[in-house]
Amino acid sequence: MSITFTDNQIKVLHSAQEIQARISEVADQIRHDYQDLDNLVVVGVLKGAFVFTADLIRAVGLSCQVEFIRLSSYEGTQGSNEFKIYDLTLPSLKDKNILIVEDIIDSGRTAKFLTEFFKNQAGVNTVKLVSLFDKPCKRLEELKDIKADYCCFNVDDKFILGYGLDFDQKYRELPYIGYVEGLC
Ligand code: IMP
Ligand code: MG
Repeated sequence: MSITFTDNQIKVLHSAQEIQARISEVADQIRHDYQDLDNLVVVGVLKGAFVFTADLIRAVGLSCQVEFIRLSSYEGTQGSNEFKIYDLTLPSLKDKNILIVEDIIDSGRTAKFLTEFFKNQAGVNTVKLVSLFDKPCKRLEELKDIKADYCCFNVDDKFILGYGLDFDQKYRELPYIGYVEGLC
């Protein structure tokens, strides 16, 4: 059954303006760290990070190659290491500096998998991860050390949506980050 929220059930956590202001700060750090490195490849993780990736590369403003991969961790399989992988097709990453762009780090399984996956690519130079959100209260005990190199916002035990993030494949088009009371 499909669940739909009314407009007044969705509360604003971060407005569109707040999101852009914070992205601009994080983009400054990334520009500073990468300005002397060539071969930057920004890899957006679909679907949730597509809006963030588009805004981030423009805020950073460095020359880069942009790639997308698509996977999702299975819902409701806590402790499992399984992913549904839709597309991990990539060109050669030899000598490249990879910046993975995630929407949110929750259990930490996706971030761990992706970081290891990219570090294992032949000849890759560096691998870092930027996440729009971190939800540390949901991190699996054994993945407590998993964290993003750059992170825009922390969120407590809320399920968030909008700005590319979905609830049941809906609400990605919202310009702000919202949440629904009682949903986590
Ligand atoms: P992890 O592997 O458990 O860290 O899961 C990360 C993925 O779960 C993210 O890339 C999101 O797609 C999804 N996710 C986790 N929390 C939320 C949320 O609050 N809103 C929307 N998607 C979420
Ligand atoms: Mg998702």
